[in-house]
Amino acid sequence: MSMGEVSGASVSLGAAFRPETIGDAAVAQMIAVLDAQDAAPSIERLRAWMLAAGDVRRGEACVDVGSGTGTMTRRLAALAGPDGRALGVEPNGMLRVVAEARAGEVDSAAEFCQGLATEIPLPDESVDVLWCERVLQHVPEPAAAIAEFGRVLRPGGRALLLDSDHESRVESDVDPAVSRAMTTAFMGQLANPSAARNIPRQAIQAGLSVDPDVGSSALVQSQDMLLRSDLSRMSAEQAVGDGTITPEQAAAALAAQAEAARNGWAFWAVTVFGFVCRKD
Ligand SMILES: C[S@@+](CC[C@H](N)C(=O)[O-])C[C@H]1O[C@@H](n2cnc3c(N)ncnc32)[C@H](O)[C@@H]1O
Repeated sequence: MSMGEVSGASVSLGAAFRPETIGDAAVAQMIAVLDAQDAAPSIERLRAWMLAAGDVRRGEACVDVGSGTGTMTRRLAALAGPDGRALGVEPNGMLRVVAEARAGEVDSAAEFCQGLATEIPLPDESVDVLWCERVLQHVPEPAAAIAEFGRVLRPGGRALLLDSDHESRVESDVDPAVSRAMTTAFMGQLANPSAARNIPRQAIQAGLSVDPDVGSSALVQSQDMLLRSDLSRMSAEQAVGDGTITPEQAAAALAAQAEAARNGWAFWAVTVFGFVCRKD
């Protein structure tokens, strides 16, 4: 597959998850990435661990900040039950439409509204459980966002914050120098690419405590995900745009990864960490 064949249909990673991103192609690409990540067993293990550690109970008021397609909002709604509430706060209107449709399909009580991590449209001390997964990496002011989480949490409330640290990305079968250039390009597109490592400091500075047991799991892309190569293609295109690799190196990297995936041995992973933050 040549870079020329793929570049017209894709958007850069940074643009893909910016709140203002609109357009069918960009949203379809975002949904494909999120659906593939939802299906990753390693992500499910971390989510299950976080839900258990956060002890989400019936009757609780839950918020999913940066709710995307609403997968976790629906899950929180099921855990909170009919006496509780789950609200997805999502700035991208097209993703909200998808989340609302998916919730309707399964008769979920999950609700969705417009908002930002730094501007959650809820009163002070009104939330028991705040879930925020792989969002802070896209937020230019993560400390302000976590302070906002502290504002809306009730005493006894928990902020369950899951995020990646893209310095931890590894991939097989691609020339190491090209792989590093692709990772650097990918990180350069994110507002906060090392989001995870700063969460404990930002949470404590916001007046929350952080459980010492930190969850972690690698987002390991399946061979099918790597054959689609959404994230690798975004990274390669960005590195070409940055002038750090040539189009030929990008095409060779994508071809090598696709060949490895066809053989079943391609490996691509980035660590996602999960922090349980509590308001006393
Ligand atoms: C990688 S997706 C994660 C979606 C969902 N949390 C999940 O894990 O499946 C990032 C989400 O954050 C949203 N987002 C980006 N900037 C945001 C901001 N400043 N405040 C709230 N959400 C934001 C995007 O629109 C997108 O839905």
